[in-house]
Amino acid sequence: MDWVPGFYSRTGSWWGPAEARITERDHRRVRLLGEHAGAGPHRVLELGCGYGTTAAATARAGHSVTAVEITDRVGFADSFSRDVAPGSLTLVNEDFYRVRLPERFGAVTYWNGFGVGSDADQRRLLRRIAAEWLLPDGVALIDVFNPFVWARWDGDETHRTPDPARGYAYELFEVTTFDPVTCTAVDTWWEAGRPDEKISQVLRCYSPADLTLLLEGTGLRLTAVTVGEESFAPATMRPGWAELLREHPEYVAVLRRQ
Ligand SMILES: C[S@@+](CC[C@H](N)C(=O)[O-])C[C@H]1O[C@@H](n2cnc3c(N)ncnc32)[C@H](O)[C@@H]1O
Repeated sequence: MDWVPGFYSRTGSWWGPAEARITERDHRRVRLLGEHAGAGPHRVLELGCGYGTTAAATARAGHSVTAVEITDRVGFADSFSRDVAPGSLTLVNEDFYRVRLPERFGAVTYWNGFGVGSDADQRRLLRRIAAEWLLPDGVALIDVFNPFVWARWDGDETHRTPDPARGYAYELFEVTTFDPVTCTAVDTWWEAGRPDEKISQVLRCYSPADLTLLLEGTGLRLTAVTVGEESFAPATMRPGWAELLREHPEYVAVLRRQ
C-alpha cells in the first residue's frame, strides 16, 4: 500500500480545486446513511474522507462526524470544518490502520476507497470496524468496487484536456486495466509531457458473493447491497440485472455486527 499517500496526494493536487465542493453525490450518501442507520443524529466515523465533501454534508445534516484521511487532501476538508452546523466535523489526518479513536460510532462509512491492499488488509480494517469502532447496533456503509464493470473497462484510455474555468488545470491521460485472476483493477494516470511519471491506483474488486467470504471471521455480516438507488438483500437473485452487471462501478455494502 506504499503507493497510497503519493497517488491520492498527487491526484488531489490535480483535481482538488475543482472537486472539493459538495455535490449531489454527497447528498445521496447522506440519504443512504439516513436510510440504513435511521434519522439520528448519529456519531459517524468516515474513513478516507478525501476532500471532506461528504463529511461536511453529513455534519450539515446534523450528525457528529469524525473523518480520517491520510493525505494532504485533508487541507481541502479543513475549509469545510468551520461551517457545518447543526452538526460537527472533526478531521483526523492519520492512517486509519493506525489511528486510535476514543469513542464508538453509530455509523462507519468508507466511500469510494475500500479495496486497497491485500485481502488480509481489508480484513484487518473490517475487524477494526467491528471490534473497535461500531456500536453494537451500528451500521457500516462501505462502497465496494464492482468487478463486472471494472472488467468491462479493461484497456480503456482517456484523455482529459484542461478546463481552468472549472478548476481543472492539468492535461491528463488515463489507462485502465483489469486482472481477472486477482480480480484487481489498475488505474494509471500521467500528466501530458510526463509519461515517465505515471502513477497507479490498484483496486481489489469484490462481487457481493466474494465480499461475503471476505467478511467471514471479521465480526461483520452483509445485510443489504445498494446499487444506484435500489437496496436488496444479499441473497436476492436478479439474473440479468444490468445496473450491477454493466452500469455502476461501485455498490454500497451495508454491514452490521454479528
Ligand atoms: C478514492 S479516494 C475517495 C475520497 C472520498 N471518500 C470520496 O469519496 O471523495 C480514497 C481516499 O482514501 C484515503 N485513504 C486511503 N487509505 C487510507 C488510510 N490507510 N488511512 C486514511 N485514509 C486513507 C485516500 O488518501 C483517499 O483520499
